[in-house]
Amino acid sequence: MTILYFSATGNNLYLAKEIGGELVSIPQAMKNGTTSFSDDKIGLVFPVYHLSVPSIVAAFIKTSHFQCDYLFAVLSYGMFGGAAPNELKKIVSEAGTSFSYINTIQMVDNWVPGFDMAKQKEIDPKKKVDAHLANIVADINASKKWICRNGLFAKLATKIMLKRKDGSEAAFAQSFTVEDNCTKCGTCAKVCPVGNIVVENAKPVFDNHCIRCLACTQNCPPNAIRLPREKSRHRYRNPHISLQEIIQANKQ
Ligand SMILES: Cc1cc2nc3c(=O)[nH]c(=O)nc-3n(C[C@H](O)[C@H](O)[C@H](O)COP(=O)(O)O)c2cc1C
Repeated sequence: MTILYFSATGNNLYLAKEIGGELVSIPQAMKNGTTSFSDDKIGLVFPVYHLSVPSIVAAFIKTSHFQCDYLFAVLSYGMFGGAAPNELKKIVSEAGTSFSYINTIQMVDNWVPGFDMAKQKEIDPKKKVDAHLANIVADINASKKWICRNGLFAKLATKIMLKRKDGSEAAFAQSFTVEDNCTKCGTCAKVCPVGNIVVENAKPVFDNHCIRCLACTQNCPPNAIRLPREKSRHRYRNPHISLQEIIQANKQ
């Protein structure tokens, strides 16, 4: 089994590790130009972004070829995933293949402009991640065929969100500010999955192709990277995942 995953704060890396098999980071596969994957089972594990599929995952799927008997996906979300599974199905069918299994799992919502990470950590036990994950793992091990369905409301919400999304990656990247406690350690550059940050004996400089994953600010050791409308100064990384693992997964 091969698991292709994308993770900014470790939730999906945790899921990927628990599901098992050979783990391949999507940013690393893209960096290495690996586009062909062959195994009995192949899984895509990634977060919902803006009620849909993160642009980095969509781009990866569009340029990849999956040869397997059982293609599955697990999408983690924080509050409401909209019709992300439906969008994923569309992207994959345009790439000429189809899924045997798609499921979603609710975890900590790491969208800093929308949520206080301290409160998210507090309510995390209520989401019963490990119990839901155990069911998903059992389904995958049993090669269960099942695709979660999205209702009309979810589809409408995703449609509206995709229309509203203005593609202003440049503006988003330039909205970060760096406080004086920045130690110029370069962690932000190392965890950025698209190589959008440069640190050269100075504070980080953000280029204009940010995918808004927030790995830079969430994983900053001195917590020096701020967003204009952040709910609090608290930051999050999945407690089972180390900073080194995020760097390993995302470093460009
Ligand atoms: C740019 C961005 C957009 C997001 N959009 C949604 C969303 O539409 N719905 C939702 O429930 N969670 C959303 N989230 C939360 C993530 O899907 C969720 O926290 C996920 O588990 C993070 O995975 P990771 O730790 O592997 O990066 C968003 C997070 C980010 C950074």
